[in-house]
Amino acid sequence: MTDEVPGARAGTTEPLEGDGVTAGIVRVGDTVRRPVRPFSATVRAYLAHLHDAGFAAAPVPLGVDGQGREVLSYVPGDVPREPLPAEATGEAVLVALAGLIRRLHDAAQGWEPPPDAVWGGLPGAHTVDLPPVDEPAELVGHRDYCPGNVVFRDGLPSALIDFDLARPTTRLYDVVNALYWWAPLLDPRDRPPALAEAHIPRRVAVFADAYGLTGGQRAELVPLAARVIHRFHLGARAAARHDPVFRRMWERGVRDRMPRAQAWIAVRGPSIAARISGRTVL
Ligand SMILES: Nc1ncnc2c1ncn2[C@@H]1O[C@H](COP(=O)(O)OP(=O)(O)OP(=O)(O)O)[C@@H](O)[C@H]1O
Ligand SMILES: [Mg+2]
Repeated sequence: MTDEVPGARAGTTEPLEGDGVTAGIVRVGDTVRRPVRPFSATVRAYLAHLHDAGFAAAPVPLGVDGQGREVLSYVPGDVPREPLPAEATGEAVLVALAGLIRRLHDAAQGWEPPPDAVWGGLPGAHTVDLPPVDEPAELVGHRDYCPGNVVFRDGLPSALIDFDLARPTTRLYDVVNALYWWAPLLDPRDRPPALAEAHIPRRVAVFADAYGLTGGQRAELVPLAARVIHRFHLGARAAARHDPVFRRMWERGVRDRMPRAQAWIAVRGPSIAARISGRTVL
């Protein structure tokens, strides 16, 4: 058994923890070791494609080590935790994140997943009885832009990690996923304190401009966001029934936050739609 892989420098082993969804992630020198899951080889193929296409803001896949763990490059920088600290809530952060996602999408466009591709998903996702929110697929996207998956450097988002939920999707789904976390698309009492009073339609517009959303995408954004939030709610409830880590999250607040987010987008959605379409804000 060895920790060594070609191209990876040895070093001390240090546990890495996010929200505790994936146990056993460690940093070894300038690499990260993660347990191999059914979708890991597909995600590594995707990451390899992104690098070949010139997108350097994601971990480089370096193979599998002697203990059967996958090896990725360690991405230097700071990863925020929830609630988002005030310094991670400025509009420059939205602009940088939107630009990062745009470059990811442009690099992903045209990549054909292998025919035997296997994709990840939340536990219990198969039990959610709602129509799909990201079909027909346009490309493979990241699909999980929670704060713990965004690496900051010099105060701005500079790379994405944790591609466990990557799969074929639409550009707009991925944008809505990022906005849910970063606008955020949440009732004021569920936002980080620095954003409790924030003007969310304006923040969505800043993101939409920085990404370069088309007129058609702008028209669809709010209806899609309402469907995505509904799906997040049922998805989180299903995951809580299938997995103790998600059960803890559910009981510690997700079960209250999700219905509040649904009610909030129903009321505030029209002013977001007006703002991003260029019409007068109500
Ligand atoms: N390649 C990497 N480079 C730098 N840091 C990493 C890397 N992979 C993981 N980390 C760190 O380890 C943490 C947990 O990793 P990861 O996000 O993959 O696991 P997770 O259990 O899915 O976490 P979460 O549920 O918070 O997304 C990350 O939030 C980050 O701080
Ligand atoms: Mg993560």
